[in-house]
Amino acid sequence: MALWWFMVLVSFFLLGRGEDKECDNFSDVDFHEAFIGTNLYVRLLLYTRANLDCGYELPHHNFTKVPLFHVTRPTTFVIHGYRPTGAPPIWINHITQLLAEQADMNVLVVDWNRGAANFNYFTAVANTRHTAANITAFIHRMTEEGACLDSIHLIGVSLGAHVAGFIGAMLGGRVGRITGLDPAGPMFAGVPPEERLDPTDAQFVDVLHTDMNSFGLRGVNGHIDFYANGGLDQPGCPKTIFAGKSYFVCDHQRSVFLYLCSLNRTCHLTAYPCSSYTDFINGQCMQCEAFYPASCPVLGNANVHRNTTANIQMGYDLSQWRDKLLKLGQTKVYFSTTAEPPYRKTSYIVDTVTWNQYLRWGVVILRLHSGKNVTETRIDHKLLQFEKHTSMRLLAQFDEDLYPVQKISFRIVTGNVIGPRYKIRLLRITITPLDLPERPPMCRYDLIMEENAEVTFKPLLCDESHL
Ligand SMILES: *[C@@H]1O[C@H](CO)[C@@H](O)[C@H](O)[C@H]1NC(C)=O
Ligand SMILES: *[C@@H]1O[C@H](CO)[C@@H](O)[C@H](O)[C@H]1NC(C)=O
Ligand SMILES: *[C@@H]1O[C@H](CO)[C@@H](O)[C@H](O)[C@H]1NC(C)=O
Ligand SMILES: *[C@@H]1O[C@H](CO)[C@@H](O)[C@H](O)[C@H]1NC(C)=O
Ligand SMILES: *[C@@H]1O[C@H](CO)[C@@H](O)[C@H](O)[C@H]1NC(C)=O
Ligand SMILES: *[C@@H]1O[C@H](CO)[C@@H](O)[C@H](O)[C@H]1NC(C)=O
Repeated sequence: MALWWFMVLVSFFLLGRGEDKECDNFSDVDFHEAFIGTNLYVRLLLYTRANLDCGYELPHHNFTKVPLFHVTRPTTFVIHGYRPTGAPPIWINHITQLLAEQADMNVLVVDWNRGAANFNYFTAVANTRHTAANITAFIHRMTEEGACLDSIHLIGVSLGAHVAGFIGAMLGGRVGRITGLDPAGPMFAGVPPEERLDPTDAQFVDVLHTDMNSFGLRGVNGHIDFYANGGLDQPGCPKTIFAGKSYFVCDHQRSVFLYLCSLNRTCHLTAYPCSSYTDFINGQCMQCEAFYPASCPVLGNANVHRNTTANIQMGYDLSQWRDKLLKLGQTKVYFSTTAEPPYRKTSYIVDTVTWNQYLRWGVVILRLHSGKNVTETRIDHKLLQFEKHTSMRLLAQFDEDLYPVQKISFRIVTGNVIGPRYKIRLLRITITPLDLPERPPMCRYDLIMEENAEVTFKPLLCDESHL
């Protein structure tokens, strides 16, 4: 940090900035203008380690004379989406700063707010093609000056993801990477791949979905698609329109906040390959062998919790895993989050073996205790079947990470509220921490419980001979 600040100061003096030139800011279009509509105008705002928080508007031509801009360095373009009210995106300064900190590179904000700020969404959609053509011409000039397409990364948010896709397509799919943050859905659902972001647009395309049921796009758009909480509704986002603006944007914007969290290295979210979110929450997709010798993809900093460098980062460094993913074809990976940063849930695989005389249907409520602290999860997205000799696997995800777990409470809730309570016998219950290999599995054997009544027990170390 200190070094960068020093560099910022030095550059102010060397370049004579600060004194005679103000920072160039993202266009702020007022509400009135957005209402009547704006004509497209594309600006490029440059941020580097030497000007982390003071944008410099790069000319579209003759940029070689700009001392801050080194065309041979890697370049990341940040492309925003639809701006119905014309206000600058609240995350723009944060993302430029975090990106510029990742590596010695050029971060270029594609400010097409004049063009995206329009009450009429369809006008903004039409402008995506023009913006893409404009940026493509700029990238052509960069390559004439010695830039390499391999080291160009386009990060597009919402409509910006499709802008990135169009740029990539016009450059023959040769740019190094495109990251799509919740690519826009309206007007892009069901269109052929040429008309939206798709894996042929870059050498490597990674996509994060958070709002597929309203502003986001359903389906698979990249070499790897991350689905946060199934890619639909995000925890902590309002469920009713009474919450005002945030009802509309919260799920969609979560993609950006998850990405920021991965860039600032405060998140560590492991995503599991699966064919659907239903299979994922049913505990059927906990295998990472497909990525061997790497482990499952991680959104965020692979090194926060432990030493595994063998993770795919949605953040920056993907080079080691890219070949694997390209071989695997289009891969869908799923993860669940909490409502707030660092968004991480603590997950356990719960394996039970029941032995009952009668068939019982129910849902499970699981609570973990550590000292006076308790955390609870309800596994109630489907009715579970407890009968004779049945093995069952559940995925239990908790908002808090309590450790060490001193007691576990288990309850099977059946619809049966009148009449006698039936007994349910668990021959074995094994609770294995997921994605935390240093924590041992916890077991308990021969547990007799009644339906709807909670049973609390101390976990034991698992004994393989007990089977
Ligand atoms: C850019 O924003 C900063 C901080 O909001 C402000 O001080 C500065 O005057 C703005 N620059 C221009 C050129 O408007
Ligand atoms: C891109 O847009 C800017 C401003 O809208 C314009 O000055 C520039 O000439 C455009 N570039 C191309 C290749 O059209
Ligand atoms: C760019 O620079 C070249 C030579 O320095 C000059 O001929 C040309 O007119 C310039 N173009 C623009 C758009 O300023
Ligand atoms: C990291 O980013 C997240 C998401 O924007 C933010 O909530 C959090 O405060 C940031 N943490 C740090 C240390 O910058
Ligand atoms: C973590 O990395 C450090 C240094 O690279 C190493 O000394 C240590 O043994 C590693 N720990 C584990 C658990 O792998
Ligand atoms: C219980 O939770 C509080 C607040 O989250 C935390 O400070 C404390 O360490 C926790 N205690 C145990 C035993 O986990």
